[in-house]
Amino acid sequence: MIFWRIKPLDAILATAEKKSLHRSLGAWQLTLLGVGAIIGTGIFVLTAEAAQKAGPGMLVSFVIAGFVCAVAALCYSELSSMVPVSGSAYTYSYAVLGELIAWVVGWALVLEYAVAASAVAVGWSGYFVGLLHNSLRLDIPPALASGPYAGGLINLPAVVVCVIVSGLLVIGTKESATFTGILVVVKIIALTVFIALALPVLDVHNFQPFLPLGGAGAVAAAASIFFAYVGFDAVSTAAEETKNPQRNVPIGLIGSLGICTLFYLLVAAGAIGAVGAQPVLDPAGNHLAPGSAALAEQCRSLAAVGQEPLVCSHEALAQVLRQIGWAKIGNLLGFAAFLALPSVVLMMLFGQTRIFFVMARDGLLPEALSRVHPRFKTPHVVTLVTGSAVTLAAAFLPVGKLADISNSGTLFAFMTVALTVMILRVRDRSRARPFRTPAIWLVGPLAVAGCATLFLFLPTDAKLVFPIWGTIGLIFYFSYGYRNSHVALGVTTPLGGEDLIAEIRPLTDCAGEIARD
Ligand code: ALA
Repeated sequence: MIFWRIKPLDAILATAEKKSLHRSLGAWQLTLLGVGAIIGTGIFVLTAEAAQKAGPGMLVSFVIAGFVCAVAALCYSELSSMVPVSGSAYTYSYAVLGELIAWVVGWALVLEYAVAASAVAVGWSGYFVGLLHNSLRLDIPPALASGPYAGGLINLPAVVVCVIVSGLLVIGTKESATFTGILVVVKIIALTVFIALALPVLDVHNFQPFLPLGGAGAVAAAASIFFAYVGFDAVSTAAEETKNPQRNVPIGLIGSLGICTLFYLLVAAGAIGAVGAQPVLDPAGNHLAPGSAALAEQCRSLAAVGQEPLVCSHEALAQVLRQIGWAKIGNLLGFAAFLALPSVVLMMLFGQTRIFFVMARDGLLPEALSRVHPRFKTPHVVTLVTGSAVTLAAAFLPVGKLADISNSGTLFAFMTVALTVMILRVRDRSRARPFRTPAIWLVGPLAVAGCATLFLFLPTDAKLVFPIWGTIGLIFYFSYGYRNSHVALGVTTPLGGEDLIAEIRPLTDCAGEIARD
């Protein structure tokens, strides 16, 4: 009953064939694209949050989250090579599981992309405020540097970066390929320098106790730090532009995830070993949730007596370098994050507008949202609507909470993708699969179980956001999309729809350009 209104795979593929792209990407370029899309607020900022949940055991958390992403990525690649069209998990589920589930997945992707954009903006704000303070001795009033969760009023820097990025997307600014490439290098150099300076001063005593909050703490931290790996789907969405996808897509995916996992483990080991990473507890010895007012208060009390534990920092990596005597390099690392993180906000917000655009084009969202600006040729309405919501969330919510909420949507979408691959293997055995997930009956169930487990270990409020958001989505679906769906009305996608999409898909275009540079 719920698998109604399937959009035939052949119809989707016919549209895709009209715009088949030149296959130019090789394994190395895909890996570079993945690394560029993955490294962001997760490692630069959320390391502190992971330490608050797991202590030094966050090393295990990075491995768990990386593993879940790797198996999900393998499933993702099979679908993206079979159905190489815009819309990602939403489109795949439309073809296999039907409109209702596709709607829920698309609705969940809003959490993945839009909320992630807010999270990265708040993460950027932490580095910006720290950079101003440490390099120029300029202080943004605390009321304007964070939301009410940390005793402030509004996170103004995060608002400004969201407004600027939304504006750039409206006027159709594409990051130039060279600029994107430079930012990847900047991030990699920053992390490499961090590792080179922090690891030599590692003190093994800082790893004890290794799991101060037990194994459950490490899995809970994995559920949050999962955010650090999100973005690898950029590699699978580039499958249609890849030479020999059967070989190169898995290399790109596993290669970029492997490289990031290695960097993340070394960075985390360096941070823990250099300055320690024990959670901050309240005076009665109770654990304090990351991003909570109580933790912010406890951190202020510690700062008043000259203590700055890693878990209290909003610019964790820069602070570690300052604490081990490399203040200037710490500021430079802060500058690198300042430069590179806005491009991650741009990628996320961009991904969001693309999903909404495709859903509106399918008739599931009001057509006004898919309106394209006559001059800029961008979907300006959807960009402004999404940009405003992203700005609002960034203004008032803490980075960790936003990342957890984003993870809840992403985990759901990845789980659906893994299920879709398995269903399609049974239902449509003979269809060409340019890339086949290896050992699908092992990898698929592992992806489903891994995503479900991480979801269950998210904080309760993040877990609750998902069903509440889903219910709002269903109300919306039954009062609008259900009646206006193009599949239900027998309307075929207007010719030219894919051309418009082409206007708003610089992410993978950039990949190609980076590759060709
Ligand atoms: N993985 C991306 C980041 O950490 C979303 O910012």
